[in-house]
This record gives sequence, C-alpha cells and structure tokens, in this order.
Amino acid sequence: MSINRFVDLAKSIAGNLGIEYLQVESKIFPDGETCLRFTENFRNEKIILIHSCFPQQDIRLMELFMMLDAAKDLGAKDVIAVIPYLAYARQDKRFRMGETIGIKTVVKLIEACGADAFLTVDAHEVDILKLFNIKAINLTAMPELGKYLKELDLNKPVVIAPDKGAIDLAKKVAAIIETDCTYFTKTRDLKTGKVETCAKNGDVEGRDAVLIDDMISTGGTIANSANIIKCQGAKKVIAACTHPLLIDNAKKRLKEAGIDEIIGTDTVESDVSKISVANIISEALRAIL
Ligand code: R5P
Repeated sequence: MSINRFVDLAKSIAGNLGIEYLQVESKIFPDGETCLRFTENFRNEKIILIHSCFPQQDIRLMELFMMLDAAKDLGAKDVIAVIPYLAYARQDKRFRMGETIGIKTVVKLIEACGADAFLTVDAHEVDILKLFNIKAINLTAMPELGKYLKELDLNKPVVIAPDKGAIDLAKKVAAIIETDCTYFTKTRDLKTGKVETCAKNGDVEGRDAVLIDDMISTGGTIANSANIIKCQGAKKVIAACTHPLLIDNAKKRLKEAGIDEIIGTDTVESDVSKISVANIISEALRAIL
C-alpha cells in the first residue's frame, strides 16, 4: 500500500508479487497537519508499506511514522517498510560539535512506530543499516542503471565517481558496461555546503563519460565533475543516479556544466526517472515474504 504518490511503483510491486494494492487516503488540515486513512481491513495480515522520503522529507517521515503506528494499531500482523529513498542518511555522524545525527533519530522512530522489517535502495551510507535492530536490507539500482546505459551505445565510455563515496557504485556500472572507471575527490564546506572537487588526469579525452552517484541534490557535486571532464576533452556527458532529488535549479546547473542527459530511477518521482526499481524491490520482498 502507498499514499497517492508512488502509485505506479507500488502497483508494479504488488503486480509482480501477485498481491493486492491498497491506496492510503491523505488530507491536510488548514493548519498544515496531515491525516491519513487506511480504507481496508488488514487485521492479522502482513502488509508492505511503500513510502519514499523525498523532499519535503520531514512531512514524508511524519506520514511514515503515522502509517506504521496506525497499521499496527489496526491489527496488521507484520509491517514491511519499503522506503526507496531514505532521507537523512547523509546525516550519519556528528560532523560539527553539538550537531544532531538525523538518521539515528529516523531509525529509532521507524522501529518504535512498529516496522518489522525495513528495505531501502542505495542508502547513502550502507553502515546505517547497522543502526536497525529489525531486519534491514539495502538494495542497489546500479545493475539497472548499467543495463540502461549499455543500451545507449556510448562511444568508448568511461565511468566516473564524483567522490570517493561513489566508487563502489561506479565500479558496478563500469562492470556492466564493460569499461574502466575512475574517481575524483570532493570536499564540502561544512558551514556553506559548497563543494570543491579535485580531479585526476583521467583518460577521458574523446570519450563519452558517465558520472555516477547515489543522488543528485543541488547538482553541485556532478556539475563540478562535469566541468572538469569537459575541460579534459570528454564528449557526451551523462549524469546517472539512483535518487534524482534535483532541488531548485539543479537541472539548469547541470545543463550549464555540459551534462547532456540526466538519468535517475523512480525512488524519487521526477521527469528523469527513466528506470524503475520495482523489479529489484519485488525480488527482495519475494525472498523475505
Ligand atoms: C554525498 O556525498 C552524495 O553522495 C552526493 O554526492 C551528494 O549528496 C550530492 O549532492 P549535491 O547534488 O547537492 O552536490
């Protein structure tokens, strides 16, 4: 079941698994509070809640907590929380003295509200799964991205991770499109969020390049790398990620940096969500149902 977002993804998963899809009703009161409503009885049944936490994350999370809590109140036997995009995963440590650690709070609340199992896709930091006491699974969309990119028939493609954190993702894609991969290093100003990228003299001249990351938010990380590889003589440049958050003018920024195409998945609904994670989620659910 899902709220009236991610209906296509939730329906595809239900269809793949041969189970019923239920939609959760939602309304917002004049003061901004949300009220959700399950319209079917699922007492003593196992339910799968599909709910991605894209911006505005805090609202999405409150929806999630309320649905988990109410599903248990209403007698669900087991609740599997499928959160294709897990917000707050980048806040996994205290970067500056006194800071909150957002993901710790989110995990505590997911468990406290009654989730019996948790599943996500390309969590920003895989180690956050260790925060869970319930079964927690992280899937990767990289094989799907790789298959899609392979079909594009790129010219001598090279895969690039825009920072060290994306190396493993880039390697997975490079293996599928059967080419080499390299990485840049990135530093982010902890106060302003401004990103600086340190390039390698990669072998990109005259080649099509694919920049791979788990998410594109403001586009700053990818834009920096795109500027560098354009100067190094890359031809076509593609930005591919699992979670296309694309905040504010990110798309414009990427275009100005020379990105020819942006490719994302449907963990976040966007006009660049060209790849669905429905099949990988369905397969993982089949194994635990
Ligand atoms: C952080 O390390 C992530 O993997 C992404 O590189 C980052 O969150 C992207 O954010 P932005 O698009 O704002 O640079």
